[in-house]
Amino acid sequence: MELNKDIDQFDIPLAKRTYLNNPNSTLLKKLLIFSPFLFLMFSFVALRLIRNVELIPLNNLKLQVERNHDARILGHLPYNETSKDKLVLIEPNIEVHIDMRDSLLKMREEAKKDGIYLVFLSGYRSINLQNNIFYSLKSIRNQEAAERARVSAPPGYSEHSTGFAIDIGDATKRETDFETDFENTDAFKWLIKNAAKFHFKLSFNKDNKYIDYEPWHWRYEGSIEALKIFESANRKL
Ligand code: DAL
Ligand code: ZN
Repeated sequence: MELNKDIDQFDIPLAKRTYLNNPNSTLLKKLLIFSPFLFLMFSFVALRLIRNVELIPLNNLKLQVERNHDARILGHLPYNETSKDKLVLIEPNIEVHIDMRDSLLKMREEAKKDGIYLVFLSGYRSINLQNNIFYSLKSIRNQEAAERARVSAPPGYSEHSTGFAIDIGDATKRETDFETDFENTDAFKWLIKNAAKFHFKLSFNKDNKYIDYEPWHWRYEGSIEALKIFESANRKL
C-alpha cells in the first residue's frame, strides 16, 4: 500500500495530456508526417538545379570538341596525303590507293558488261598539286577563296590526296567531263544504281551548302582505313 502511493505520485493523470488538441501541435504533427515527402521534393528540385548548372558547361565543351574535331575550311574537311607506297597506277597518268584498285577496276568491268563505258579522269593528287589547282586557278579566274572552294578543295583538304577519291566520266560523252551535265549520262545513272555494290559513294551531293554538286566525284569506303578517313564526312552534325 505504501509502495502504490509512491508510484502514484509519479503518475501523470490522463486528463492532463491535452497537447494533442493544441493547434500548434497539430501543425507539428502534420509537418512530421509530410516531412519525408517534403524532403524528397526539395532534394529533387535541388538535384535538377545542380544538374542544369553542371550540364551547361558540359554541353558547351561537347560543341567545342565537335567543332575542333570537324575543323572544316570553307566546307572542306582536312585530309592527309597518303604515303607513296600505297599508290598504284591504273592508267598512265592516274594513281589510286592500292586498297581501292580492284574494286574500282571491277566496277568498270561490270559497267562495260551493261554497255556503260566509264572513264577515269583524276585519282590521287598530292597536296602540292592541289595547292596549284586551288591557288593558280583562283588567281587566273580572279576568284575569292570561298568562291574557288565551291569547286576545288584547298591544299590539305581534298579527298583526292587520300588516294580514295576518283573522278569518273562517260567515255561516250566526253563533253560532260567535270560538268554538272554528267548527271544526265548513262554512266552516271548506272553509277547511282550500282556504285554502292563496289563501295563507292558520291561525295558532294546537291545538299552541300558550301561545295558545288559534283556528280563525277566518288569516294571509296570499302575498307576500315577509308571509313576512318571519311568518318567526319559521314557524320551529320
Ligand atoms: N573538287 C573537289 C572538291 C576537290 O578538289 O577535292
Ligand atoms: Zn574529284
